Amino acid sequence: MGGSKARPRPAGRIAPSILSADFSQLAEEVSAVAGAGADLIHVDVMDGHFVPNITLGQPVVACLDRVTDLPLDVHLMIERPERYVEEFRKAGADWISVHAEACTHLHRTVQQIKESGARAGVALNPGTPLSVIDVVLGDVDFVLLMTVNPGFGGQKFISAVLQKIRSLRDRIDADGLSVDIEVDGGVKTDNIAEIARAGGDVFVAGSAVFDSKDYRGTIAAMREQLGKS
Ligand code: DX5
Ligand code: ZN
Repeated sequence: MGGSKARPRPAGRIAPSILSADFSQLAEEVSAVAGAGADLIHVDVMDGHFVPNITLGQPVVACLDRVTDLPLDVHLMIERPERYVEEFRKAGADWISVHAEACTHLHRTVQQIKESGARAGVALNPGTPLSVIDVVLGDVDFVLLMTVNPGFGGQKFISAVLQKIRSLRDRIDADGLSVDIEVDGGVKTDNIAEIARAGGDVFVAGSAVFDSKDYRGTIAAMREQLGKS
């Protein structure tokens, strides 16, 4: 090891969000995107309080765990998520992110996720400044930057967040940390390269994948764009 070259960043990972899948065929949908080249399965958990929508909970995560070998990336959009970390981990969550805005004791909750054995992430809404994660950045495995206001699939990418992605990438690189930046909301084939250039590593894509007729073609097109970034 050693040398002056910066550590090369691994190729971007694509995480289809099942929020836009057909819930009556969830097992088939997950197998289909896994077969189409997905790297992770992104699972949006919403409680109707932190966000104005209700989706699914631990029993569904446990079912998903039975039907795929891909890591389950569980995005908790719920108030006081510390109440449920262990349960989601037991259900099969491999990555768990909590919203900084929903945690009174963020540092403690990050440690709790790490102790559970899951990869630990903190998610930030578009309007939340990066400074709220200053103290935990050295502890987390990934930061999830929302590029829409959370609650629904199919919303428009908020391009003002690109600068926040760049700032976080600069900070991570300057500190020599190995923290992934996951970008969630409005990611499409035509903006994924720009998001990667800003510093994104993991790309959540709900409607872009599941509303397309050809999951394999869409994921391949995203990868091709990533190759150009
Ligand atoms: C939004 C969720 C996203 C959502 C993304 O609150 O966190 O994961 O599924 O959907 P698209 O890719 O359609 O914006
Ligand atoms: Zn999400």
